[in-house]
Amino acid sequence: MASAQSPVQPPRSVFVNTLMPEPAHLAVGSGSLPFTTSFTAATDSFHDDRLDDAVARMLKQLENHTGLQIALAPMASKTATLLITVDGPGEAVQSVDENESYSLEVTRQGAHLKAATDVGAMHGLQTFLQLVQTDGAQFFVPAISIQDTPRFRWRGLMVDCGRHYMPVPVLLRILDGMAAVKMNVFHWHLTEDQGFRIESKVFPKLTEMGSDGQFYTQEQARELVAYARERGIRVVPEFDMPGHTQAWFVGYPELASAEGRFQIERGFGVFDPVMDPTRESTYKFLDAFIGEMASIFPDEYMHIGGDEVNGVEWKNNPRIQKFMRAHNLSDTAALQAYFSQRLMEILKKHGKRPVGWDEILSPRLPRDAVVQSWRGFASLAASVKQGYAGILSKGYYLAYLDPAEKFYLVDPIPTKSDLTPEQQALILGGEACMWSVYVNDTIIDSRIWPRTAAIAERLWSPRSVNNVDDMYRRLWVESVRLEALGLTHITQEDMSLRELAGPAVAASAPGIDALHALTSVLQPGGPEDPHRNTLSPFSRLIFALPPDPPSRHNFELLVSDYLQAPAAHDAQRAQLAALFESWIAAQPELLRLISSSPLLEEARPRAEQLAELGTTGLEAVSWLSSGQAAPRGWKEQKLTVLDEAEKLSAAVRFTVLEPLRDLVNSVKDK
Ligand code: ACM
Repeated sequence: MASAQSPVQPPRSVFVNTLMPEPAHLAVGSGSLPFTTSFTAATDSFHDDRLDDAVARMLKQLENHTGLQIALAPMASKTATLLITVDGPGEAVQSVDENESYSLEVTRQGAHLKAATDVGAMHGLQTFLQLVQTDGAQFFVPAISIQDTPRFRWRGLMVDCGRHYMPVPVLLRILDGMAAVKMNVFHWHLTEDQGFRIESKVFPKLTEMGSDGQFYTQEQARELVAYARERGIRVVPEFDMPGHTQAWFVGYPELASAEGRFQIERGFGVFDPVMDPTRESTYKFLDAFIGEMASIFPDEYMHIGGDEVNGVEWKNNPRIQKFMRAHNLSDTAALQAYFSQRLMEILKKHGKRPVGWDEILSPRLPRDAVVQSWRGFASLAASVKQGYAGILSKGYYLAYLDPAEKFYLVDPIPTKSDLTPEQQALILGGEACMWSVYVNDTIIDSRIWPRTAAIAERLWSPRSVNNVDDMYRRLWVESVRLEALGLTHITQEDMSLRELAGPAVAASAPGIDALHALTSVLQPGGPEDPHRNTLSPFSRLIFALPPDPPSRHNFELLVSDYLQAPAAHDAQRAQLAALFESWIAAQPELLRLISSSPLLEEARPRAEQLAELGTTGLEAVSWLSSGQAAPRGWKEQKLTVLDEAEKLSAAVRFTVLEPLRDLVNSVKDK
């Protein structure tokens, strides 16, 4: 849309929608509001520090985005360009029922944001930021009318800080990203077999012996909670029990079901150590611990885990078996239900409502519990049919490295649902889950973003907003906006590639360009290395690569566009040919870099295949554009090249094979 235009002309009002998530209702007006150095923002009704700070943050972002110096403090004036009318602060402790709605009217003369609460206003400010665009000459905000409210009340992201500790600044920038896409629950997974990450002053050995010195102080936790609240985000802490608790037992072995000494777990998987639900001392400990945590985390909900208890130590312990018989507990699931019930009474005493993984669903679960479904939609349906509120995580596991579109099309309420409207209303929303088995603080951003923005849209926007091509078009724009917040999901790839290439790349003028030709069409592929543990380094190609690189979807679109009329679509043919030639041209430098770096050696077969794929693509478009048939045997030979490239190698996969297959299969045979 960039055309030569004199700066004195009014901006064109072409509205390019890059909003993410899409608002509930949007009507495009005519004309636009120029964005200039005289832009101001003011609150004209209620305001407090939280709102003023949010406006000031937005103004700074607008400045960075446009390069125009503007007044950075919100004013109290009805003549401001953006007038913000808010009725009140919102809830003292943000709940699932917080009013998050807002409306935004933009005309040629000015903009008016209205909301009942700070939280709604903050969502509206994010929308305003996403609306500011350029026609190539000037910045403007399109005339528009938006009435917006979330479809779901619980739009979360879980981050596992147990298996790998994530430093506070990493978590804060994740919160910034969440706020940008209107997510409102940070589920903080704080305890695991591999690490106990929150300071307890009552039980100091929890972190002294169970964290390798990597934990959050209570002060840091309070600061994080405050930072999140400033952005309209609730913090739900998780203390996973009674399984996944090995790190607790290093300092407090008396909590465990088995005798003996414990160590911090270094491996990954489901382990036997489990709390002893039969001793009163366990509940006394948990009462004191939960009470202490309740004073740090103000949210109404506390997550008690409950997942993956294998029952082995309960079955092997005669004392526990005797307890089960005496209490009529027929199996280990019944014993876990007994434990959950006792634990939930403790939560209630401290003013908290429980959330748990779907294993907590059992006949005597308290009515106010929230069930988080990770094993399937069936468990969510079963929960709401029994009258429990639920949130969906099955289908939103970021660690599975699926493309954004796969997450995007998972709806918390399936189209063919047999749930009644009342049961559907019990589905509060969903949570993306970032388990940190194969994730450390360097790569976590690229595992979370931008894919989580697609999940955020699923949870905020109307069900009917589900066009994958349009989602990707907006996702790449949002990805760059997220990077501007300090997230490293784009830059990390280059940094990691330079680290893999080592000194050879420092001295070379093309640097990592040749590596890029390869890595831009690769993505991480499973299965993961079963020999890894929490101490393993991340210096491998698989960890440098983003899970759903733009190449995959963009190449798909380009090829399908070209194949509609290969003889006529010259621009697409030229684009494809240039791409294929770049794959071939990269090979000498790629092989040189690989030869000089032990860390890149595993990529050698991929480098060789890249050139073969380039040749395959070039020949295919050449036959297709000429309309001629390829010689006998050509197609079989090229399909063999593609089959070879399809095999997992270096734990990475090519992103371009399906469309290449379409190209080859479209060539006529002799
Ligand atoms: C889980 O993934 N174990 C909740």
